[in-house]
Amino acid sequence: MTTGDATIDLSAAEEVLGTDDERFRHDYLEVRGLRVEFDGFVAVDGVDLTVTQGDLRFLIGPNGAGKTTIVDAITGLARASGSVQFGRTELLGRREHRIARAGVGRTFQTASVFEELSVLENLDIAAGARRGPVERLRRRRSVPEVVEQALETIGLTAARDVLAGVLAHGQKQWLEIGMLLVQDSRLLLLDEPVAGMSQAEREQTGRLLQAVGAQRTVVVVEHDMEFLRAFASSVTVLHLGRVLSEGTYAQVQADPRVQEVYLGAAGATRGARRAGRRASRGTEEE
Ligand SMILES: Nc1ncnc2c1ncn2[C@@H]1O[C@H](COP(=O)(O)OP(=O)(O)O)[C@@H](O)[C@H]1O
Ligand SMILES: [Mg+2]
Repeated sequence: MTTGDATIDLSAAEEVLGTDDERFRHDYLEVRGLRVEFDGFVAVDGVDLTVTQGDLRFLIGPNGAGKTTIVDAITGLARASGSVQFGRTELLGRREHRIARAGVGRTFQTASVFEELSVLENLDIAAGARRGPVERLRRRRSVPEVVEQALETIGLTAARDVLAGVLAHGQKQWLEIGMLLVQDSRLLLLDEPVAGMSQAEREQTGRLLQAVGAQRTVVVVEHDMEFLRAFASSVTVLHLGRVLSEGTYAQVQADPRVQEVYLGAAGATRGARRAGRRASRGTEEE
C-alpha cells in the first residue's frame, strides 16, 4: 500500500485535541542532570532540558549524540539518574506504564504499531488506555468519537480496516501520532517522525505537530535541517551526550560550535550530507 493521497486533516485535529487548553496550562518538562550509562559508556551526560507547554522543541545532533536515549530515559525504557519532572511528577524510577499513565507518550524511530491489527484496532487500543475496563466493554461495538476524529486527522479513515503492517512508512508514523492523540498524551516525544516521508508528507506532519505543540508539550527528535527551519519553535543541539547549544533555529545555526559539529569532518550527519549533495547538485561539475 502506498501513501497515495492520504492527507492530514487539521480541522479534525482540533476535534481530537479539544478546546480546553486550560488543562495544559501548567504542563512542563523539566530534565535535570540526566545521565544514562551503558556498561560504563556514558551515552547521556548531565543533560538539562526545560520544555514548556506550547513549545515545539526540536532535539538535534549527529548520530549517536544521545537523542533516542534521552527519550528512552524520559519514558522509562532506559535506566537513568538525575531528575525528569513532568508537571510536578518525578518520572525517573517509575515503570513505563505508569509514565504513560502520567500523560507521557512517545513514538519510535521504527514505527511500533501493532502490525497484525487494523488501523482502527490500533487506535482503539490506544483509546482504551484511557478508558476503564467497563467502559471499554460497553463501547466496544461503536467507534468512539475521538477515534473517528483521529482517523480523519491522520488521513486514514479510508484505510481504517487495513492491517497496520501494510501501511506505508509515513502512514505508520501518522498512525503512531494518532495513537498518542487518542490516548490524550500531554507530553509527546517523537523520534524522527518524518524520516522517509515525502516532502508533502513532511509539511503536513510539521503542521500537525505545530497544532499539537501549540497546546501540549512536544519534543521532536529530528535530523533534517530543512524540516527544523520550517517548524521548530526552539532547538536543543546534542553532541556526545551533552547539550551543545540551545535557542531558536537562527541562534543555534549561527553557533560556531554547532557549525563545527554539523559541517566539520567529524559531523557527517545525514542532514549535512543531504545538504552537501543538494549543494553539489547545484554546481556544474557534478
Ligand atoms: N542499549 C544500548 N547499549 C549500549 N549502548 C547504547 C545503547 N543504546 C544506545 N547506545 C549508545 O549510546 C549512544 C547514543 O545513542 P542514541 O541515543 O541512539 O543516539 P541518537 O539517537 O542521537 O542517534 C550511541 O553511542 C549508542 O551506540
Ligand atoms: Mg536516535
